[in-house]
Amino acid sequence: MDSRDIRRHWTNWATTYGSALRATTKTWTAKALEIDALSRRLRSVVGDSGGGKILEMGCGNGINCVELAKFFPNLSFDGVDFVPEMVTAAIENARSADVEDRVRFFVGDAIGAGNLPELQPSYDVVFTDRCLINLDAIELQKQAISILASKVKPGGYLLMIENSLTSYAKQNRCREALGLAARKPADFNLFFDEDEILLHVTAAGLELVDVEDFSSLHDLMLYVLVPAINGGAVDYDHPLVQAATTLSRELAAEATGTFGSYGQNRLFVCRRLT
Ligand SMILES: C[S@@+](CC[C@H](N)C(=O)[O-])C[C@H]1O[C@@H](n2cnc3c(N)ncnc32)[C@H](O)[C@@H]1O
Repeated sequence: MDSRDIRRHWTNWATTYGSALRATTKTWTAKALEIDALSRRLRSVVGDSGGGKILEMGCGNGINCVELAKFFPNLSFDGVDFVPEMVTAAIENARSADVEDRVRFFVGDAIGAGNLPELQPSYDVVFTDRCLINLDAIELQKQAISILASKVKPGGYLLMIENSLTSYAKQNRCREALGLAARKPADFNLFFDEDEILLHVTAAGLELVDVEDFSSLHDLMLYVLVPAINGGAVDYDHPLVQAATTLSRELAAEATGTFGSYGQNRLFVCRRLT
């Protein structure tokens, strides 16, 4: 798929699913773990005092910003997405949740984020959640990281929840060990090549301070263990996937990385140096 097909794909999901979770995510369990990881990290890096400003690039229909705004009443959020129909649905979600005084949404492209007049000059935290994997070349992913880094205040953070080729390969090895075929990324995704991307993080003036694996148990259950007893089928509603979600959140409150690095998404935590 080229970049026009990728945009068409997201426009299609936005018009089909509107303000529902399904416009951006196939299962509520994965979204619950993403929001849990983002909120724990926001609490540790900015807390909830003093009016911090947060930007999400590729915000889809706004579910992350809206849910985080409910957890953090003193933070304000800007979300940007290149699909106008996603932004319309995001504004609707903010209105329904009664957080529209602190949550704004705009149409814009990750590659042009430096020039969006509506945005603040800089933010305490900029984050992405499965956005940069939609850029169809590593060079574009690197360019977007540099642009997003330039929107972070010195000492602030760029948080990226993105799919990784490294942890995906480990997950596929588990499938193969149980006689299942390796899965392939969707056509419209380019998972992070960590060797390339992490070198670039440093070149963009950021320091990688952590990589959190928050969905390993969930993804092992969803993509490996349940399919292994289920004729290979991925069952998003399986009770064991829900139990894995609950257990992952409970344990992450005490310590992270308990289940190794087998989740397809990882949270890359980067701090801007100057
Ligand atoms: C998998 S969805 C995730 C949405 C949201 N981050 C979430 O976690 O619910 C990816 C989103 O990124 C947006 N997107 C993809 N490429 C983009 C780009 N170059 N600039 C801005 N948004 C982009 C898509 O329109 C889509 O809404």
